[in-house]
Amino acid sequence: AAESGLNAWLRYAPYAGSVFDQSKVPLHIVALNTSTASPVYVAGQELQTGIDSIFGQQCNVHHSHWGPSATIVVGTIDEYTSVYGELSSTPELIEDGFWLNTTGNSVQILGQNERGALYGAFEYLSMLAQANFTPVAYAANPAAPIRWTNEWDNLDGSIERGFAGNSIFFANGVIVSNLTRAAEYARILASIRINAVVVNNVNANASLLTPDNIAGLGRIADAMRPYGVQVGISLFFASPTSAVQGQANLTTFDPLDPGVVNWWTNVTNQIYAKVPDMAGYLVKANSEGQPGPLTYNRTLAEGANLFAKALQPYGGVVMFRAFVYNLVNESIWTQDRAVEAVQFFQPLDGQFDENVVIQIKYGPIDFQVREPASPLFANIPNTNTAIELQVTQEYLGQQCHLVYLPPLWQTVLDFDLRVDNKTSLVRDVITGQRFNRTLGGSAGVVNVGLNETWLGSHLSLSNLYAYGRLAWNPADDPTSMVQDWIRLTFGLDQSVIDAITQMSLESWPAYENYSGNLGEQTLTDILYTHYGPNPQSQENNGYGQWTRSDHLTVGMDRTVSNGTGFSGQYPPEVFQMFENISTTPDNLLLWFHHVNYTQMLKSGVTVIQDFYDQHYAGAATAQTFVSTWQSIQGLIDAERYSDQLFRLVYQAGHSLVWRDAIVNFYNNISGIPDEAGRVGNH
Ligand code: GCU
Repeated sequence: AAESGLNAWLRYAPYAGSVFDQSKVPLHIVALNTSTASPVYVAGQELQTGIDSIFGQQCNVHHSHWGPSATIVVGTIDEYTSVYGELSSTPELIEDGFWLNTTGNSVQILGQNERGALYGAFEYLSMLAQANFTPVAYAANPAAPIRWTNEWDNLDGSIERGFAGNSIFFANGVIVSNLTRAAEYARILASIRINAVVVNNVNANASLLTPDNIAGLGRIADAMRPYGVQVGISLFFASPTSAVQGQANLTTFDPLDPGVVNWWTNVTNQIYAKVPDMAGYLVKANSEGQPGPLTYNRTLAEGANLFAKALQPYGGVVMFRAFVYNLVNESIWTQDRAVEAVQFFQPLDGQFDENVVIQIKYGPIDFQVREPASPLFANIPNTNTAIELQVTQEYLGQQCHLVYLPPLWQTVLDFDLRVDNKTSLVRDVITGQRFNRTLGGSAGVVNVGLNETWLGSHLSLSNLYAYGRLAWNPADDPTSMVQDWIRLTFGLDQSVIDAITQMSLESWPAYENYSGNLGEQTLTDILYTHYGPNPQSQENNGYGQWTRSDHLTVGMDRTVSNGTGFSGQYPPEVFQMFENISTTPDNLLLWFHHVNYTQMLKSGVTVIQDFYDQHYAGAATAQTFVSTWQSIQGLIDAERYSDQLFRLVYQAGHSLVWRDAIVNFYNNISGIPDEAGRVGNH
């Protein structure tokens, strides 16, 4: 079982010198809960399994006071003090936090709640699995309460933008009977401190709300609850008029209609009867053809508050997506999809109920290889916010390319919006710290499937692992996250750690370079597959994903002075920076400015020459991933070695396809030769 991909980074592999030593690891485990479905009980089992697997030692698990011998005690802080008496000093813990103390004779793993205790057990096991026996005593608390994943699973079992097989939750319109994989997924998520999963696609289907499916949601929740993972669902806004079997069928879905209010209250009550701890609703409304409150001339806030009121008695949360836009027309110079979110939401600031959180994609367009931080984070200080990140690599190689995403995410999380000329990091906005909000956090679009690697390739799991770490602590470091993940996944050999660290950290810059650099967007096919190069598709589409490339010029003019005005949605200092070419960083130049191909960059080359140079450089880096991976042959198991080698060889080849498609496109359209003579016949 330790080799199964289903264990992800929870493999607990033995390592050289992993001999059980009672002076380092106690032989007795005390898990202070007797209920087998409780996270604390599960923590006791996990500790037992992990220690057995790493050290070959079967520990005893007790569920009440045990002593005087050395023990690993796991439980809530309240339970601990009632069994063992007061701690010498009481750690400051907030919800889901834990106290880990390995300095004494016994190890204490004490949660503010059961979930926190389980998180602490995983933390301790992660140390043991990495041969880290440094005595520690610290309290760990989450930066934000919302640490969710979104799964874009359809009820028929397919997954929108899923690259790892069919759904672990749904098939043929209903919830599957065998939910083993759901429980296994919850275990993995608990180890990275994710506390809720929205199980169905944001493009939701009303038939999720039949009595049978509501009962099925209850079964999913039961499977995940022992790991402290709650279930949430996406709603179809027009469900009241969708003739849902077993529910009333109305003639309107107007959010202010009393019958509609009643309908949602009723359905919400039915759900909580089966899922008493349901996390909440995720709503994609008036976006990409989805119905919403605007259909009835009601505001987005009125739409969100409809659900907020139904959830409020149960403590549920509405995650209302900011991904709202109308189709735009490229022939109008000032039209720009990027400006729409702020236009829709800024006037509504302060009108959302307290249990509504606006879920904002990291950039203003759509999960591109580089985007500036969404200005919406700066524009709704009286509203709860969460950042939406995408673990599934929709535009970013779809798990066929290695692209380690935290360095990209970090460009947004660490971005300083300078609201009121004060430090205003996006990560401090979403945690609620900057604007004093109590709710907030992260949603990661993950889209795991039935594939035994969960995501479709072994190396793509570093993105899921790091997503959880960042949801807990958005200031966490991409290098240390990937290195912990490598040790847990592939072992402790230093050359393995060095090789995979290097590839991982080079992978996003390489992908950016061989796809769309200088802030030009990813340049994938955006009409159908979102995969592979298709620069032609970046013009004349209704989605507003444009580059405005012609024979002389390229880039979107998003200035206030001459363009779409997008730069003006940032607070003054940031606006000034992006409004002017001279202060816009090269890597976002074409996001904000429409320039000649001969425009000189800060790096000292022209835009067109940089296209050529970076596409060659990015593809050259991708070639090295193959040899770097080959350098660890024999140091990891043969199966994962060859699986991943296949992917990396493919990526190396596809990076050349990318390079040639893009450089030839720009060479043809501009007629400007490559100074290095690599491109075209001009
Ligand atoms: C992207 C993606 C869609 C998805 C949408 C969303 O556009 O391609 O499949 O529905 O984002 O986030 O709602």
